[in-house]
Amino acid sequence: MLEIDVADMTERQREHLLLWSVVPRPIAMVSTLAPSGAVNLAPFSYFTAVGYAPMALLFCAGRRADGSEKDSCRNARPPAEGGTGEFTVSVLVEKFAEAASAAARPLPYGESEYELAGLRPTPGSRVRAPRVEGSPIAFECRTSAVIPVGAFFVVVGEVVHVAVEEGLIDEVSFHVDLDRLGSVGRMGAADYVRTSDRFVVDGY
Ligand SMILES: Cc1cc2nc3c(=O)[nH]c(=O)nc-3n(C[C@H](O)[C@H](O)[C@H](O)COP(=O)(O)O)c2cc1C
Repeated sequence: MLEIDVADMTERQREHLLLWSVVPRPIAMVSTLAPSGAVNLAPFSYFTAVGYAPMALLFCAGRRADGSEKDSCRNARPPAEGGTGEFTVSVLVEKFAEAASAAARPLPYGESEYELAGLRPTPGSRVRAPRVEGSPIAFECRTSAVIPVGAFFVVVGEVVHVAVEEGLIDEVSFHVDLDRLGSVGRMGAADYVRTSDRFVVDGY
């Protein structure tokens, strides 16, 4: 085994090791609103569910090259901290993979990535932040915490509303039709994986 002391790794090496070993990662298309009303969209693969009592999600945002906060984090902050306190998460599906990559371009604050990505915002039902039109499943969240971890921020949101495409879930059990969802995961930087090759492990 190669035993590596993290203290001996460069920041780039730490980044790469996480990018290519914590895989596959689900991808959140995070949409937010600036206090000015400007809409914002960006993909985040440091993303997961927190729990379901309450139902909560998180994404982790690093910083821009100039050290400033990424727009998604800035906008998701509560109003007292300069944001609007809300965000929506559209789970990334294959048809939007190219668009998500385009939406990752660091535009100046207040400029929307929607047009750049060829996507359209559609109004949220319970939050003012928009959702990605055509997304099969979208979670509308109110920010409950923004936790700094060194240069990163963990943005936690309580889900207050879920918009699901008709026919995607069993309306009693809420099981999701995975073939129809067609979500994709991130396997590094530009490498993605489909979720069509699944297998069952008995016993759970
Ligand atoms: C598929 C994908 C996943 C990404 N995941 C993250 C992530 O988890 N955290 C992060 O800080 N940046 C991530 N990025 C980069 C951000 O999307 C990028 O910095 C973006 O410009 C942030 O936009 P914003 O400033 O509008 O929030 C990812 C990019 C791609 C293409």
